[in-house]
Amino acid sequence: MNATTVNRVPRQARIPGGARRAPARRVERLRAALCFVALLICMAAADGSWLRSVPPDYHSKANPLAGQPAAIAGGEVLFADRCAKCHGKDALGRGKRPSLRSERVQSQATEGDIFWLLKNGNLRRGMPTWSAMPEPSRWQIIAYVKSLGPESASAPGKKPRQEKSK
Ligand code: HEC
Repeated sequence: MNATTVNRVPRQARIPGGARRAPARRVERLRAALCFVALLICMAAADGSWLRSVPPDYHSKANPLAGQPAAIAGGEVLFADRCAKCHGKDALGRGKRPSLRSERVQSQATEGDIFWLLKNGNLRRGMPTWSAMPEPSRWQIIAYVKSLGPESASAPGKKPRQEKSK
């Protein structure tokens, strides 16, 4: 037997094409399904579902700096630096990044709830964790956010809604 006889075996016979194509198609279909799921996650509007994950001891945690003017001022600076790029300078939200002057953040969520969210983030939905930030700084930001009040109160740059004259 010499090299010529070995080479006579056709290449296709050694690597059956059918056996390779089926898994490739399955991978393609899986990739399409994953893209679809990712799209759904990206499109999902903030629905406050994170609130249901907050343990009771966090829910009832009080902000040690609540209402302190110096803390609020510090929180404003931190907010502009860390949070504004997503939630907007005015905290009114941007696209899929929700307003922090909503009824949910201003009234429904306690300061403890927000503290829990900053600690844990909501990575699946694009909210980062801030556990590396010192706790007093997180409480300052929360004091600032809560000091803004609901959007309807006095949205910066927006005229308050006019009452219809009777
Ligand atoms: C990279 C963008 C990004 C940054 C930076 C960011 N957030 Fe968020 N945040 C999000 C997204 C996206 C959500 C919505 C999560 C969801 O769908 O529940 C969110 C949700 C929240 C919520 C809950 C809002 C609600 O209506 O349920 C609070 C409170 C919040 N962020 C506060 C902050 C604070 C305070 C900072 C700064 C320390 C900050 N975020 C920085 C993207 C961001």
